[in-house]
Amino acid sequence: MKVFVTREIPDIGFELFKKAKINFEWHKKDSPVSRRQLLINVKECDGLICLLTERIDREVIDTMKNCRIISNFAVGYNNIDVDYAKSKNIIVTNTPDVLTESTADLTMALVLACARRISEGEKYLKDGKYKSWKPKLLLGMELRNKMFGILGAGRIGTAVALRAKAFGTKIIYRSLNKNLSLEEQTGAKKVDLNFLLRHSDILSVHLPLNEHTYHLLNKQKLQLLKKNSIIINTARGEIIEEQYLIELLKTGKVRAAGLDVFENEPYVNPALLKLQNVVVLPHLGSATVEARNGMAELAAKNVIRVLQGKRPLTPV
Ligand code: GLV
Repeated sequence: MKVFVTREIPDIGFELFKKAKINFEWHKKDSPVSRRQLLINVKECDGLICLLTERIDREVIDTMKNCRIISNFAVGYNNIDVDYAKSKNIIVTNTPDVLTESTADLTMALVLACARRISEGEKYLKDGKYKSWKPKLLLGMELRNKMFGILGAGRIGTAVALRAKAFGTKIIYRSLNKNLSLEEQTGAKKVDLNFLLRHSDILSVHLPLNEHTYHLLNKQKLQLLKKNSIIINTARGEIIEEQYLIELLKTGKVRAAGLDVFENEPYVNPALLKLQNVVVLPHLGSATVEARNGMAELAAKNVIRVLQGKRPLTPV
């Protein structure tokens, strides 16, 4: 049995392979594995742990001779052709739950950074401009009594809503299904997409990326955003048609954006970098020791279980 891991992951994952006496190899560089190297390595492996930086498409899947499981080191799995893998009897798994709290925390960090102009304030100070306290310096927005819109009330959206509730916001959400637990815990109301866009003072995106959500927030939808609202994306960049968001940020119709993900990641549109009312992060949603250890453990356990003939813990 041989497992290929496309990057160094926290030790806990590798330790589990050692304990299970499963051979493993990993791409030792701190940059994505090249396509060529990926194709060479997947050819003979029995299990694969990959990251969202790898496109596991038909070509990669067709190259696999023995692979029984593709274990994504991420909750999102838009980088994998899941249907095709399934048609070849290859199991696909992801890492839900273990990164929910971390991603929700980071979402709130972006909300507060946008509402209270944290990046602008820090830049102002570091640029040596802070000469005296001023009554009207960098005034932001209080969260209390604001309408907080959750687009996609799954695990992460729900965890964000609970946090937002603690800040005194009113919650509305748009989701395919009614989320009773969310409604009971926060008094949240389910609304349609247009209502959500028109009424949210803060709109936070928590959808998976798929053919239904790609550019869901296109020009026409973005135009519905409430004046002076804040938009946060810690899900996937491709859900928002970025060029139109940039227009709205430039004109000030949208107050600020907090973005952890981008349409053409890791490329970031230079126009975004120039805007003062944008807070950008390099996809850090799950970047805590707790979450990454949890992801390594779960990704490895899924592989081990499948190679031992058991059901994976978190199939997609
Ligand atoms: C990160 O973006 C993930 O999907 O886990």
